[in-house]
Amino acid sequence: MSHLPQNRAAWNRLAENRSQFTKLATDEECRNPLQTLDSRGWLPASVEGKSVLCLASGGGWQSILYAAAGARVTVVDLSNKMLQLDEQEARRRGLQVKIVETSMDDLSILHEAEFDIVHQPVSTCYVPDIEAVYREIARVLRPGGLYISQHKTPTSLQITHRDQQNRYVIGLEYYQQGALPKVEDRAYREDGATEYLHRWDQLVGGLCRTGFVIEDLREPLRADPSAPVGHFRYRGRFVAPYVRIKARRISEDTGKQESSSLWVP
Ligand SMILES: C[S@@+](CC[C@H](N)C(=O)[O-])C[C@H]1O[C@@H](n2cnc3c(N)ncnc32)[C@H](O)[C@@H]1O
Repeated sequence: MSHLPQNRAAWNRLAENRSQFTKLATDEECRNPLQTLDSRGWLPASVEGKSVLCLASGGGWQSILYAAAGARVTVVDLSNKMLQLDEQEARRRGLQVKIVETSMDDLSILHEAEFDIVHQPVSTCYVPDIEAVYREIARVLRPGGLYISQHKTPTSLQITHRDQQNRYVIGLEYYQQGALPKVEDRAYREDGATEYLHRWDQLVGGLCRTGFVIEDLREPLRADPSAPVGHFRYRGRFVAPYVRIKARRISEDTGKQESSSLWVP
C-alpha cells in the first residue's frame, strides 16, 4: 500500500482510539487562545480577521483555538476522522472552520496567496518529499505571511532501541532511502504510520530554497531528569525529538532586492 492510504488508515485508527493527538481545545485554553498556541510570541498580537491555514492539523485543537481568537480558519488533513473532530467541536462551540481533506503536498484546491498564516504541527514526516510541501505552502501563503511548523528531528528518527546500558542506539542511516523501517523504540513513532526522515539540508535548507526566510528556530524541551528509564521524557534528555521553526514568505520585492544586490560590484 502506498504511504497515503496507509497513513490515512493509521490516523483514522488513532482518531477512533482518541490518541494524545486528538486532545480537543479546552474552555480554559479557548479563553487565551493565542498564548495557548504560541508561548514564544511568534504570532501577531491579534489574528482577528486573518486567514489561517491549520495544515495537517486535524484533531480539534489548533483550528478551534485560531477560530476562538477570531481568525478565518481552514483546516487541512489527510484523515477524515481527524477532521471530524474539528468539525464536531467547531459546531459545538458555534465557531466557523472550513474543512479540507487532502494531502499536504497537494493543496491545489486552495488559492494562491490565500493565507496570512500557515500553522503546521508535526506531520512532514508522513510524506517523502518535504520540499513539495514547502512549495505548496509558499504558493498559498501571501508574501510576508508567517509559516510556523514543527518537525521530527532526523537524529530522533534514527534511533532504533536502547542497549543493555540503556543508551540510545542510532541504528538507522542518516541518508535513508524510502520509508523508515519499523523499530523497537516507538517513543516518537505512530503505530501503523509510514514515516520518512528529512535531513537538516531538507528541513531547513529546503525552506530557504522555496521562498522563506527563517526568523527563529527552537527545540521544544521534552527532557525530564526525574522521568523513568524508557519514558519519552527520559529519551528527551539525550536527543531533542522536535524542532519548531518560524519562517516568513519572502515578498517578491525583497527577493528582487536581495538578488540584485548580489550583482553590485
Ligand atoms: C501529530 S498529528 C497533528 C494533530 C494535532 N492536532 C496536534 O495536536 O499536533 C499529525 C496529523 O497529520 C495528518 N497527516 C498525515 N499525513 C498527512 C498528509 N499527507 N497530508 C495531510 N495530513 C496528514 C494526520 O492525519 C494527523 O492529523
